Amino acid sequence: MKRLFVAGAVLLSCAAVAAESPRERLLMDFDWRFHLGDAADAGTNFDYPEVSELAKTHLNEIGLGAKLVADLPDPAESNLGGNVSFVQPDFDDRDWRKLDLPHDWAVELPFSANADLKHGFKTVGRGFPENSIGWYRREFALPASDRGKTLWIEFDGVYRNSLVWLNGHCLGRNVSGYSSFRYDISDFVKCGGKNELVVRVDASRFEGWFYEGAGIYRHVWLVKTSPLAIAPDGVFVYSRFLNNVPTGAAAIHVQTQLFNSQSNSAEPTVRWEILSPSGKSLVRAGKQTSMVGWSKQDVDLSSNTPLVVPSPILWSPESPKLYTLVTTVESGGRMVDRKETEFGIRTLAFDADKGFLLNGKPYVIKGTCNHQDHAGVGSALPDALQYFRVKKLKEMGSNAIRTSHNPPTPELIEACDRLGMLVMDENRRVDETPQALNDLKELVLRDRNHPSVFIWSLGNEEGQFQGGNAAAQKAAVDVITPMQTMVHELDPTRLCTIAMNGGWGGGFSRVIDVQGFNYRTRNIDKFREEFPTRPTIGTETASTRTTRGVYADDKQHGYVAAYGENGVEKAWTWWPYFAAHPFTSGGFVWTGFDYRGEPTPYKWPCISSHFGLMDTCGFPKDIYYYYQAWWTDKPVLHLAADWTSPGREGKTNLVRCFSNCKTVELFLNGKSLGKQSLPKNEYLDWNVVYAPGVLSAKGYVGKKVVTQTKIETMGSPAGIRLRPDRSTIAADGEDLSMVEVSVVDPRGGVVANANNSIQFELKGAGKIIGVGNGDPSSHESDKASERRVFNGFAQVIIQSSRREGTIELTATSPKLTSARLKIKTKADKLPPAVLP
Ligand code: GAL
Repeated sequence: MKRLFVAGAVLLSCAAVAAESPRERLLMDFDWRFHLGDAADAGTNFDYPEVSELAKTHLNEIGLGAKLVADLPDPAESNLGGNVSFVQPDFDDRDWRKLDLPHDWAVELPFSANADLKHGFKTVGRGFPENSIGWYRREFALPASDRGKTLWIEFDGVYRNSLVWLNGHCLGRNVSGYSSFRYDISDFVKCGGKNELVVRVDASRFEGWFYEGAGIYRHVWLVKTSPLAIAPDGVFVYSRFLNNVPTGAAAIHVQTQLFNSQSNSAEPTVRWEILSPSGKSLVRAGKQTSMVGWSKQDVDLSSNTPLVVPSPILWSPESPKLYTLVTTVESGGRMVDRKETEFGIRTLAFDADKGFLLNGKPYVIKGTCNHQDHAGVGSALPDALQYFRVKKLKEMGSNAIRTSHNPPTPELIEACDRLGMLVMDENRRVDETPQALNDLKELVLRDRNHPSVFIWSLGNEEGQFQGGNAAAQKAAVDVITPMQTMVHELDPTRLCTIAMNGGWGGGFSRVIDVQGFNYRTRNIDKFREEFPTRPTIGTETASTRTTRGVYADDKQHGYVAAYGENGVEKAWTWWPYFAAHPFTSGGFVWTGFDYRGEPTPYKWPCISSHFGLMDTCGFPKDIYYYYQAWWTDKPVLHLAADWTSPGREGKTNLVRCFSNCKTVELFLNGKSLGKQSLPKNEYLDWNVVYAPGVLSAKGYVGKKVVTQTKIETMGSPAGIRLRPDRSTIAADGEDLSMVEVSVVDPRGGVVANANNSIQFELKGAGKIIGVGNGDPSSHESDKASERRVFNGFAQVIIQSSRREGTIELTATSPKLTSARLKIKTKADKLPPAVLP
């Protein structure tokens, strides 16, 4: 292989100046001012025409989006809103509320039976104009030394239709509530002075049919680079093996896009260095180029001279090892940029017979679809919560997430890279208007370096394109082809799917790389007969509704028995089929966690969905253990039944057992109720005449007891127990401790039907950012210092402040022994931030 100029001495000196790279990426989450409601002088200034329904694309709307906005002047060029009071740099915002991002104001609003069911009855949207527009302002200073740099403001995501101004100049509009976007602010900043960033957010329209939140609900960043630098999303790195067989050396392809935002031409040198997962330098190369002023340029190693990593450690969910590409740019004898990009080395393939292959081997997707909200915080999840949720899913044995039905925040993908979780990365709007294509393009450019992303999903259940007449069939092909072609051009390493719930074989099916199946599992066989060479995947399955800790349907309260019988499919109807048919690639359960909105099968007063294997806090429901039993190798034994509620003596109760033991024996108060053998991917039932006491089970493999479990009749609520997921967290103003709150009986067991209200008091170096309990019909506020436990459990989310210290949480309730908890905050990994 031809060696590029790889001079040790030059590279050493480059390492020595590494720290001097002008690139900075500063978190801009702290100390914003917020106002709910529009400016009195806003008028119709900000009206923005869109198609009538954003959630699904209609045949007659194809191309319409582009036409609707075609005649609108560019907001930046026309300085839209330049004379509106809230936009003025000297506007007095001192009486606006102070808050930190991420922020979702929808979760703070009251519920109303008149509000949108799909959005969880929160009083936001077109019916509630007074609650649907919010303004944010943030003053920040820049040092004089920033003069001459290129400065960007980056938004991970704003729900939705945002306009941004800096120092009174409109920077632009971003419409989708799920796309990341950025503005070059270099021309408008005052270096050596104060700057005022203003954001107007219009959440009066819905993009989905589920809770979506409102506001700047993801991070904001200030990025500083030299004028000649790596362009935003300008690093692309991917690995290749000969014939896609992951043995021997991996060829690492690197591509760097440079951006020269000055009039001078330049002769920059780009250098690439790969670090092993333990940080050891493995291989280096470089290339010089020339650029005229004000230009962009792609610099890469030609495809036959990639960087080579011999015997790499492969990335997988079981071993998520990350390599680092260090890209440096030198110009005029100085380092002008340096950027680290984590990536993984692994192969992906889909095969019509073997299904999905990871690193050359069939790999069954044990996935969950998820929306992005969590108890307490709505859609504004601090990063630590992404890690908390991914870990919970992994504990259940899941190895993949589908980011239904929208681009996720980039921090979720990072968590998946690091913890080991595959991602089906999903696009929101299926159409070929410039705006929709641009959102898809930005998603691919942003996420294509991530090893966790294994497939792109172009959309979900677009009913108008899944069958119908010849014109509809043709329209489907016409819409999806430019989307898929663009993705292939931007990312030669991954395929695309689209989640269909009917019309397989027609429309999108004619061109899509991997056919997605939502439900109606048995249709896969028919499709396979017709399209024997087309790979398939279970994009969405199950939709089983269960309420944690409830064992009889209760329409009045909106609860569904937790046995797992109520749903589009049952766990034990879809999973055995997929497990037995490798060509399906496995599938994604609808959903891993309950989410706000889409209460099903009941409506008001129910405000959350019940589809989760865990509730909105991440407390497992019984059905979680069905999956854990068949998705992990560890012995699992779990009993689902109510053994605490009084008044059922002598009545027959269904006791359902989720396990992966070969045989299970059930006992009531020590007396055997018999052994049953458990076929693979199934569960066991006993009908047991209720008597208070201990219901226990032993799980056997052969004659050996490999695990035991019990549920028992609890005493009355006596005390509170607090358990943090982490008792030392970073003092960075972002990190979290997720505290499990439970009500226990005098012996210390969680009282399975307790619903006591608990008051929380927090002192010290942190704050409570939300509370929840997983009750799908609770109308209590998530932004409060009290919460009822629901069937024994509640959750308090504690966030650190930016000073080291101790956080003390006290939980009290009349008639219960109170509990106290201490959490330490340590300033050991402060991320760079724009501080007040
Ligand atoms: C699916 C849809 C999901 C959710 C689910 C509820 O058809 O893709 O977004 O609505 O139904 O069962």
